Amino acid sequence: MAIHFFENQGVFHLTNAHLSYILHILPNGHLGQLYFGSAIPIDEDYRYLFEGAPRPMTTYVFEGDTQFSLEHTREEYPVYGHSDYRSGACRVVQPNGASILNLEYVSHMIQHGKPALPGLPACRATQAEAQTLEILLKDQVSGLKITLSYTIYEELPMICRHAEFKNDGVNTLRLQKAFSLALDLPDDNWLWHEFVGAWSRERHLFKRPLTPGMTAIGSTRGHSSHQFNPFVCLTRSHTTEHTGQAIGCSFVYSGNFLIQAEVDAYHTTRLLCGIHPENFEWALRPGESFVTPEAVLGYSTQGLNGLSQAFHNLMRNHLSREPWGEMVRPLLVNNWEGTYFDFTEEKLLGIAQKAKDLGLELFVLDDGWFGERTHEKAGLGDWWPNTKRLKNGIAGLSQKIRALGLKFGLWFEPEMCNQDSDLYRNHPDWILQTPGYSASHGRHQYVLDFSRQEVIDYIYQLMEQVIRDGELDYIKWDMNRSLSEVYSTAYPPHQQGEIFHRHILGVYQLHQRLLDSFPQLLIEGCSSGGGRFDPGMLPYCPQIWTSDDTDAIERLFIQHGTSYAYPISCIGAHVSVSPNHQVLRHTPLFTRAAVALFGTFGYELDLMQLSDDTCQIIKREMIWVKIWRCMIQHGQFTRLRSPFEGNDVAWAAMDLTKSKGVVGYYRILNRINDRFDRLPLPMLNDMEKYRICEVAEDFSEERPIGQYSGKTLKEIGILLSDPTAGEISKYAGRLPTDFYARLFTIEKIA
Ligand code: GLA
Repeated sequence: MAIHFFENQGVFHLTNAHLSYILHILPNGHLGQLYFGSAIPIDEDYRYLFEGAPRPMTTYVFEGDTQFSLEHTREEYPVYGHSDYRSGACRVVQPNGASILNLEYVSHMIQHGKPALPGLPACRATQAEAQTLEILLKDQVSGLKITLSYTIYEELPMICRHAEFKNDGVNTLRLQKAFSLALDLPDDNWLWHEFVGAWSRERHLFKRPLTPGMTAIGSTRGHSSHQFNPFVCLTRSHTTEHTGQAIGCSFVYSGNFLIQAEVDAYHTTRLLCGIHPENFEWALRPGESFVTPEAVLGYSTQGLNGLSQAFHNLMRNHLSREPWGEMVRPLLVNNWEGTYFDFTEEKLLGIAQKAKDLGLELFVLDDGWFGERTHEKAGLGDWWPNTKRLKNGIAGLSQKIRALGLKFGLWFEPEMCNQDSDLYRNHPDWILQTPGYSASHGRHQYVLDFSRQEVIDYIYQLMEQVIRDGELDYIKWDMNRSLSEVYSTAYPPHQQGEIFHRHILGVYQLHQRLLDSFPQLLIEGCSSGGGRFDPGMLPYCPQIWTSDDTDAIERLFIQHGTSYAYPISCIGAHVSVSPNHQVLRHTPLFTRAAVALFGTFGYELDLMQLSDDTCQIIKREMIWVKIWRCMIQHGQFTRLRSPFEGNDVAWAAMDLTKSKGVVGYYRILNRINDRFDRLPLPMLNDMEKYRICEVAEDFSEERPIGQYSGKTLKEIGILLSDPTAGEISKYAGRLPTDFYARLFTIEKIA
């Protein structure tokens, strides 16, 4: 049993080998938080952790008592407006304008497994894998019931949480804030790690200590955004990548979000996570329910890598669309950077033939195959083949691609339209826009109102036909602008605060309907690169295009940052041309490959332009990748050196039995006559012996480096020193350069 209830104490203890989460019923019937951290025994009484304090300027709950104030209490689902002056987890306005609630414990239920969340993405668990605790709270005055749900996994240091609001009263209640998670921590000695950026510069790691007041990230753009990712870590000052305490908070949602930590005057920390309250208001009529998205709390004592590996496991095995979590991903070629809009069927078939010759497996036709779409200003929304460009339509092209022995996939951007489209001409009211105000455009496109069922139905029917006719194996689902002037003419004034959330529910619904119709379809998510790279997409899109920036050096930062929460199996990574199209940087082919290998691998360039020598290298590379990709994508990923801390980067992937692995080492700028350098490999088993080889730059061989015990490699490591020391004329081997990479393989010796 992972969940224990001690009735005489009113205490719940959720625990497994990794963590304990303890909550209790407070003297006023509310729920309090006692402990979250490493696993501790279940047979002790932890109520001593509930502290009161007679402090001046404090307001107390009971007349005559100067101990119990909510201000000094760690709460489980706090409401602002009583004696707690910190931010609350929910705000519900009653018809008389009152916005406080008295959420008292009513009952609870413990069950095996994990119920699904209706219409929302959420982690899965079988009966054997997890237990779920549901605690029912009720406010007698309004009739509002809130059920807090906690799932703890048997094997993982993870707790999934959400809340369900049910209006059991007689009046409509206005839900203005409905967070998924609140966690009160007893101190503020934490470093906050966030993953920030912009288009083509996504998920760069940024750290700051918690300070009194608010530390917060969020999105109000209608998608999780390039700017902030719905994931934060908290670590102690001495936590490293490999040791020490780390807490992770991940929000399984793709729309507006807020994650904030509030440090109060007494140095306690309140972590809140949920839908961003900006422009959110939900009218909850009598009898209706509102379910918040899921938030996941992770805990590690093995540093940030330990935390990341636990999140990778959860996302791969319990969140990503099945069966893709554990399946190898097809090696693809995408024509976007190769041709942009400038393609003919002949040109595409040339690239496809070349892809087949090189050993790739999937041909993806990107933007420009539909409606009048020959440039950015037209065609979005008209999801039928442009037979002026592709005379045999998508079905004809698909047949030819398949005849080559390749799988076939297409780009869509289902949530958008251009004004120059049949869709807009026929249904100008189908876009999000506020009456009386002009609608802003982004990339000359407008956002369809996915809170309207008829809009989703229309897009579904067009996509369904193309996917069926083209027998598509894959689609790339793009989303290239943030939402603005969000208002739906299909809803009354008092429901306009629902539209952001209803829109994203519509996006999930369309994904689900397509997957119900085409269970084998592989959908790769995308949003101008990584603008919607979040856990909410994973149950539909087991892989996501990580960034429009395909430069290998930029990708070191982007993929490194992304790896804090997300497994390699969902990180879309392609080799593109040099000089790169985003930053015009020249990088060696080997470096581009060695970076993209730590992702769902593919090429994104005009393969027809490659020299014969390059093609020979890529052929050998594809053979190598096919041997190693399963291990890289689904093994255990470890960050060894960080681009955010220096000139070198190193990553490793090991299979789960620690019998084989790959290490990638990257040096951004070349150095002269530099230090001697060793790279310890802490992910190996002490007792095993390993053979280390280095992969040749042209993939022609794996050169043996030596055989060492796991203990030696862990404590000392492999040598990375530059053998030329800058005197290149005296050295006959491979010369280090700027943007240099090395790949090593590790195999356990039986
Ligand atoms: C977005 C995507 C790109 C490509 C283009 C096509 O920018 O991120 O990968 O698909 O759209 O217009």
